[in-house]
Amino acid sequence: MLTVDKVKQKFNINEIHKPSMVIDSSIITAKYHALKNLVDGLELYYSVKTNPHIEVIRLLEKLGSGFEVSSHPEMMELINLGIPANRIIIGNTLKVPKMIEEAHKYGINYFAYDSETEVQKLAKYAPGSNVSLRVSVDNTGSDWPLSKKFGSAMSQALDLLKYAKAHGLNPHGLTFHVGSQCLNPLAWSNALMTIAEVYFQAKRNGIKIEVINMGGGFPSKLIKNIPEMEHIRENINKTIKEIFASEDLKFYIEPGRGLVGQAALMIASVIGKATRGAENWLILDIGVYNGLLEAVAGIEYEFVSDREISGLTHRDDLIPYSIGGPTCDSWDTIVTNYHLPKDLEVGDVIYILNTGAYTVCEATRFNGFDPPKIFFI
Ligand SMILES: Cc1ncc(COP(=O)(O)O)c(C=O)c1O
Repeated sequence: MLTVDKVKQKFNINEIHKPSMVIDSSIITAKYHALKNLVDGLELYYSVKTNPHIEVIRLLEKLGSGFEVSSHPEMMELINLGIPANRIIIGNTLKVPKMIEEAHKYGINYFAYDSETEVQKLAKYAPGSNVSLRVSVDNTGSDWPLSKKFGSAMSQALDLLKYAKAHGLNPHGLTFHVGSQCLNPLAWSNALMTIAEVYFQAKRNGIKIEVINMGGGFPSKLIKNIPEMEHIRENINKTIKEIFASEDLKFYIEPGRGLVGQAALMIASVIGKATRGAENWLILDIGVYNGLLEAVAGIEYEFVSDREISGLTHRDDLIPYSIGGPTCDSWDTIVTNYHLPKDLEVGDVIYILNTGAYTVCEATRFNGFDPPKIFFI
């Protein structure tokens, strides 16, 4: 993970623009290689939505990564950057027709789907294309579940594969997502066992599945401990060996958070303090609306004050705070009961660790506040 020490070696913290976010390319590179080695011959498609900064895209392009896009603008951005069609897959099962039409024209030949309506659109705007059925799998253990809105039920899966085939599409793949920030090291192997049922059902019915896409969900260190990648890797490979060893199959992943989350930290500053009854409030220049949206639904960030790092505060002098962002909305509360130094002052620096995923790209312009400015090392 990107450490405060490393950031301090590169920047003068007193002078750097605030709020800001520093991204370390070498961490993205290391994570890319670790994820790519999950399974022999694995194809990796970075989930662009996680952090679509052009330098992140360019870096991953150079490393040889593919890209998973979920919207028309994301896709156009990659096309305009000259990323070839064979390095782009479309993972969103809910696509605007215009996106399908332009993807097909450009030569993109991987579309996820999970409903008859999507098949009808794909058959109309991308006739004959390769389509991957997203199947709903258990999301227990993930801090950001994705199973309700997406994915066909197991009981519908075979019918949806047949439906795609009957509409002239090539149902070449199965895909799943175990939920983002998944803390269960068995989640992917369990999902493979679930999906095996659909795979062999399809095979018996004359539908040859060529690709299994294991999605994302690989975690990034936040407050809770995360499983070792090695543990996840062992479980996946054991299951592949047991179930799919004699099948002619390719495996894909489309990671986001696990690839870029730990590559960045934010540099915020204290802009206010208040006591309301028994509650101590600490207000920062980064909040829910300008970078930490996920804090309102289950993602817990780690805050470190420069005062603690510099040894200006003794550990006994920490008190619980409710930490809020700068906007005039009460919903702009990042966390409650978080221990930081009692003697924090306006202007003090607070680092927010491992914030490379789903942060600045989800920032709004509410109240006119800018998202953190981005720097690379
Ligand atoms: C289709 C799809 N693929 C991949 C991802 C990336 O997931 P993660 O960031 O958990 O790796 C997402 C996240 O929402 C997604 O919707």
